[in-house]
Amino acid sequence: MAHAGTLVIQGLNKQYEVQGQALPVLQDIHLTIEPGEFVSIVGSSGCGKSTLLRLIIGLEEGYQGEILLDGTRIKGTNLNRGIVFQEHRLFPWLTVEKNIALGLLNSGLTEGQQRHTIREHIELVGLQGFETAYPHQLSGGMSQRVAIARALVNRPDILLLDEPFGALDAMTRAHLQQELHRIWEKEGITMILVTHDVEEAVYLGDKVVVMEPRPGRIRRIVPVPLAHPRDRAAYAFSVVKDSVLREFAEQPVADRIEPPLKPSEPRAGLPWQFAV
Ligand SMILES: Nc1ncnc2c1ncn2[C@@H]1O[C@H](COP(=O)(O)OP(=O)(O)OP(=O)(O)O)[C@@H](O)[C@H]1O
Ligand SMILES: [Mg+2]
Repeated sequence: MAHAGTLVIQGLNKQYEVQGQALPVLQDIHLTIEPGEFVSIVGSSGCGKSTLLRLIIGLEEGYQGEILLDGTRIKGTNLNRGIVFQEHRLFPWLTVEKNIALGLLNSGLTEGQQRHTIREHIELVGLQGFETAYPHQLSGGMSQRVAIARALVNRPDILLLDEPFGALDAMTRAHLQQELHRIWEKEGITMILVTHDVEEAVYLGDKVVVMEPRPGRIRRIVPVPLAHPRDRAAYAFSVVKDSVLREFAEQPVADRIEPPLKPSEPRAGLPWQFAV
């Protein structure tokens, strides 16, 4: 079991330069995530969720404030932090096990240890029998399992997930949510999940961070004091879900549907086209 560190984000501000002008994207973010916590992040499109994940994983620098893991400022990427994206980003010409093996490129493990670790992770995500399959032979849900295995194979302390189930049908999604919960419990690591699905956020999270746009800020952090396994049909579940949804309802309609256009006028150039 990994020993995840405490992640502390203090006074985080991030802006991009768009057409020569500063576009504020994240403003005054304060968030503490305890080791082994599951944190869901929800918020309208363009409010900076992916940017926040990229900063935590160390893919981007150039921000004000602090992002500290066990008191040390995060600098660059590191094997102790893994990420899964909405699209699985598997290499089509590599088999399942070879795609997972890519995660171990810089691990320093011997070949034998690598084989063992890969086998363990194929089991962890329930893909036994598909070791030599190619991505085109897998369903969307299976491909996401491979992506999760690849991200976990280095035994990261923190796993970041950016809408990992966004492209899947409702049944597969519900199934993978259960699987992700099982993996989180088994591995004991911190998970930070960005999702547009409030039910998914409440089903999995110890707390739900609700963000609001222009610029991206934390509107409210909603605790989820419900024991696992959670029953989506239970009254207590719907009470928490409603309190998250209420935060959205209270945002001005324009903030929920419009991408941020600041600072440039007129609309030409559409800064939100840069969203990843
Ligand atoms: N590299 C970049 N350069 C300029 N602007 C960027 C860049 N990356 C993101 N942005 C802008 O930052 C804002 C936040 O983008 P981000 O992708 O973090 O939003 P998001 O909350 O993840 O949205 P979505 O829910 O649609 O994925 C957007 O206005 C986007 O256009
Ligand atoms: Mg995003």
